[in-house]
Formats: sequence, structure tokens, C-alpha cells
Amino acid sequence: MIMKAFLFFALLCFLASTVSTSPLRYEAIFNFGDSLSDTGNFLLSGALSFPVIGKLPYGETFFRHPTGRCSDGRLIIDFVAEAFRLPYLPPYLALKKGQAFEHGANFAVAGATAMDAEYFYEKKIGAILWTNSSLNVQIDWFKKLKSSLCTSKQECDNYLKKSLFFVGEIGGNDYNYAAFVGGNIKQLRASVPLVVEAITNATSLLIEEGAVELVVPGNLPIGCSAVYLTLFQSPNKGDYDPRNGCLKAMNAFAKYHNNQLKKALQKLREKYPHANIIYADYYAPAKRLSHAPLHYGFSSGTLTACCGGGGPYNFNNSARCGHIGSKACEDPNTYANWDGIHLTEAAYRYIAHSLINASFNVTPSSLT
Ligand SMILES: *[C@@H]1O[C@H](CO)[C@@H](O)[C@H](O)[C@H]1NC(C)=O
Ligand SMILES: *[C@@H]1O[C@H](CO)[C@@H](O)[C@H](O)[C@H]1NC(C)=O
Ligand SMILES: *[C@@H]1O[C@H](CO)[C@@H](O)[C@H](O)[C@H]1NC(C)=O
Ligand SMILES: *[C@@H]1O[C@H](CO)[C@@H](O)[C@H](O)[C@H]1NC(C)=O
Repeated sequence: MIMKAFLFFALLCFLASTVSTSPLRYEAIFNFGDSLSDTGNFLLSGALSFPVIGKLPYGETFFRHPTGRCSDGRLIIDFVAEAFRLPYLPPYLALKKGQAFEHGANFAVAGATAMDAEYFYEKKIGAILWTNSSLNVQIDWFKKLKSSLCTSKQECDNYLKKSLFFVGEIGGNDYNYAAFVGGNIKQLRASVPLVVEAITNATSLLIEEGAVELVVPGNLPIGCSAVYLTLFQSPNKGDYDPRNGCLKAMNAFAKYHNNQLKKALQKLREKYPHANIIYADYYAPAKRLSHAPLHYGFSSGTLTACCGGGGPYNFNNSARCGHIGSKACEDPNTYANWDGIHLTEAAYRYIAHSLINASFNVTPSSLT
């Protein structure tokens, strides 16, 4: 009897430990995208148009030094890696020959677009691109890396089916560049089908390469972003959502992109029934924060940037975060917006945990 009870107890402990330590669900994570998920590539690429991300206050919160992340601390992809008990994704451009990267790599580059650079050069706005490392360039980097990770088709398929692929967020910059040179919403909407096609093309390519588990995030509510709120400031009260102070038209545009993306992903699921293609909704959780900032601990509000050089949303294009004339707030944890364009670690944590809760069966104890 005692023996039986003991065995039962041991079994319970065993079950409890397998649940709370959530056995490695994925062996690797590969990420493609822009500044929302870049963990160092842009900085390593040596491009000089935004070098302040290589200086404090960038990185002050968690890493305590700048890492090339466009935030005070961790990004959504860092929280995803934590949830699956995998190391933070090393930036592809930091990989040295012989370095271990069997747990994945990050190909995202700040400023990157879904469409290739040529598209912007043809439209005569190529000069404002921060980087030419578009989604296709990033996919080519992955293919190069893949040849060093596995050789036979069998070996590659086995490895890649246990890997998680994040395709985005990407596409936001395709619209940003167009908007910053004066494009109106009608022109932005006209480019959505191409941008969405670039994203689904890349997703298909990865599936053809052997990816099975894929996450494709949509855009954030950009009408709540300090940069848009500043650049498209309007004297007309009706342009703002009375519930949160965000620009209605820009948020409707982000939703339009997201809906087109969701439809295109549904088609992809029909084409590749063996693949698990998850749409990651960043819009809804970010919007929840701006509806009830205090409820989520954002006592300084969600629209004003923590780090900036003045103005109604603390975004000043002549004194952006990290430049002379700007300064960072005391406690970034109470802000959702970091530098006017990007979010704080606190906001990214909430969005990441919402995604993990909604789409993956990970135990809450691993979400800290
Ligand atoms: C992108 O490529 C073009 C043409 O090769 C080059 O002139 C430009 O400097 C590149 N831009 C960046 C940001 O690397
Ligand atoms: C998507 O792929 C198709 C087929 O290869 C190609 O014709 C099309 O131009 C691609 N679209 C974009 C936006 O890259
Ligand atoms: C924006 O920054 C410039 C340069 O530091 C400064 O002269 C200007 O007063 C700032 N604008 C606001 C609204 O704070
Ligand atoms: C995720 O789920 C856990 C457990 O149900 C909950 O405590 C936590 O608040 C959720 N987080 C988010 C961001 O939804």
C-alpha cells in the first residue's frame, strides 16, 4: 500500500515536472522581419542612418547595454524564445563560421521592407530606405545558413519541422516610407495587395524549403504610434478615436492590411494543408493597452514616447531618441511607446504573452 502510494506520488511529481518545464516544443526559431524583431543585424550591417540604437538609452532596461534592438529591452521574439526555453536569437550577421546556431537565427533588419529595394528605387523613393535587406534578401540568408545546418533532404525536413518560423511583422516599413514622403491613405491601400503577396510568397518559399510551423504577424495599430500622431496631427477632433486618442484612419488602414493578410494566409493553408500557419494578432493586444493604459500598468499612458525630444507625444523628428535634445523617461515600464516608433519592453511583453496564450499551449509559469 505504501509502495503504491509512493509510486503514485512519484508519478504525480513526474507529470508535474513535465508540465511545468514544458518539454522543448521546438528545437529552433528562425525569424524574418524589421525593427520590431531585429536583435542586432542593422547595427552589425554598419548602416549609419540610425546609429543611436547602438547607444544607451537603447537597451537600458534588461540587457543594460545596447544590443541593436530598437527598444529599451526585450522584443516580442525574445519573449517567445523565453517561453519555449530557447536562447535569444543570435543576429545572422553576427554568426561566425563554426558558431553553434542550431537553435535558430534572426534575419530581421531594422528598416527592412516586404517588397524588394528595386520596387522603391523604381518609385524614386529608394534613397530613403534604411536598408536593402528586404524579406527576399533575408530568405536568401536563411537558404545559405540551411546548407550548413543539414545536408540530405531527410535530415533537413526532420530538423525544419521541429523549428518555428516567424515571418514578420514585415510590411509596416513599406507603408512608412510611402507615408513619410507624403503618400496618402488611398495610395497606401493600393500597395497592400503587393505587400501581402510579398509576405505570402516568402511564407510559401519557407514551406517549400521544409518549414511546417509558421507564425505570420500582422501590423500594429499605427494610428496610436507617436510618430504618426505627430506627423499626421489634425485640428479635426473627428479624426481621433474618442476612446483612445489614436488616429482612426491610420488604424483602419492597419486593420485593412491585416484583413488582407489573413485572407491570403487562408489560401496558403488550403495550398499547404500539412503546414501549421498561425496568424499572430499584434493589433488587438496593442489596442487593448491604449483603451485601458492604467489597467495594464501604463501609468504614463500609451501614446506618449518615453524617449524623445518634446512635442505633444514626445516625438520630435529633429531630436529623436538618442539624439541631442532628447532624453529618456525615468521608468520605461510605465510607457508603451519607447522612442515614438517602437514599443517598450513592457508593451512587447504583453503582446508576446497574449500571442503565446492565444496560439500555443505553453504553461503560464514559463511566462515571467
Ligand atoms: C541599396 O542599394 C543601392 C543600389 O545598389 C545602393 O546605392 C544603396 O546605397 C543601398 N542602400 C542601402 C541603405 O544600403
Ligand atoms: C510572388 O510570386 C509570384 C510567383 O513566383 C511572382 O510572379 C510575383 O511577382 C511575386 N510577388 C511579389 C510581390 O513578390
Ligand atoms: C524639437 O527639437 C529641436 C532641436 O532640438 C528643438 O529646437 C525644438 O524646440 C523641439 N521641438 C519641440 C516641440 O520640443
Ligand atoms: C496569459 O495566461 C495566463 C494564465 O491564464 C494569465 O495569467 C496571463 O495574464 C495571460 N497573459 C496575457 C497577456 O494574456
